[in-house]
Amino acid sequence: MKVRKAVIPAAGLGTRFLPATKALAKEMLPIVDKPTIQFIVEEAKASGIEDILIIEGKGKRSIEDHFDSAPELEQNLQQKGKTKLLNLVNQTTAAGLNIYYIRQPYPNGLGDAIRYAKSFIADEPFVVMLGDDLMSDEVPLTKQLINEYEKTHASILAVKKVPHEEVSAYGVIDPQSEVDTGLYNVNKFVEKPAVEDAPSDLAIIGRYLLTPEIFDVLAKQKPGKGGEVQLTDAIDTLNQTQRVFAHEFKGQRYDVGNKFGYVRTNVEYGLEHPEIKDELRAYILATADRLRKEDAAKKPAKK
Ligand code: UTP
Repeated sequence: MKVRKAVIPAAGLGTRFLPATKALAKEMLPIVDKPTIQFIVEEAKASGIEDILIIEGKGKRSIEDHFDSAPELEQNLQQKGKTKLLNLVNQTTAAGLNIYYIRQPYPNGLGDAIRYAKSFIADEPFVVMLGDDLMSDEVPLTKQLINEYEKTHASILAVKKVPHEEVSAYGVIDPQSEVDTGLYNVNKFVEKPAVEDAPSDLAIIGRYLLTPEIFDVLAKQKPGKGGEVQLTDAIDTLNQTQRVFAHEFKGQRYDVGNKFGYVRTNVEYGLEHPEIKDELRAYILATADRLRKEDAAKKPAKK
């Protein structure tokens, strides 16, 4: 069966970005000038996805408005002849894609959020895409997972090696064997293990391709780490009745779910952005120079 549906959960509280996320979805925070969720929708489109369900929490209307038309703004830009800006605004309406919305009433975890996609997905394989991770590669990561699915017809998660001391922030796999280059059979999926207990450094990153049987598992899934219903736990249970593979992503991943990763990603994308890249580069070089001088002034002079 063709994979044509995606679920984007965006109902988390985003506590790591408070107070910015008090009234705004974390997925609406921009990387230079584009909300992270728009990057995700663009990746979905480039991967052949046709229908998207966005799972929203309280006060997340800005996401719906972002992907809707904005007649007053469009008219204003048109009248002022600001064609370039008008094109940018029109691109956000996600032409060629159908976007649907549903509310997760309580932020009870990622696994709980996915439960609300059951009737939208029905009996099809689908992808879950998290706005916390932006991915860059020649073939979009979601498309890489779909390509693998077409060979195996099994669920498959994206993983990436992370520094060992960081594993406790992720779901981690216990790989059984590498069945093909970068494709792993998995013994166990473990949510946020203690560093000393982690079965590997292969962390689950924000793209999953799942078979619809995950909903039967999620229906019975009890809360796990942090008192939240964990998708990783449900995937581990699914793996006991049907194979769930892991695909190692070799492209560039930008973790925008924490403050430092977010700022770093803005700098990296800014250095590629045609409008600001030269100015930003000059600013970074001048700042580095200043910081080096400041550091040197603090050090005691060598004898
Ligand atoms: P995170 O744990 O990264 O998001 O969840 P969070 O809880 O919003 O962030 P912090 O830790 O408080 O800063 C991963 C993804 O799952 C969604 C989030 O929106 C994010 O995309 N999520 C999480 C839900 O949709 N519902 C939930 O109950 C929890």
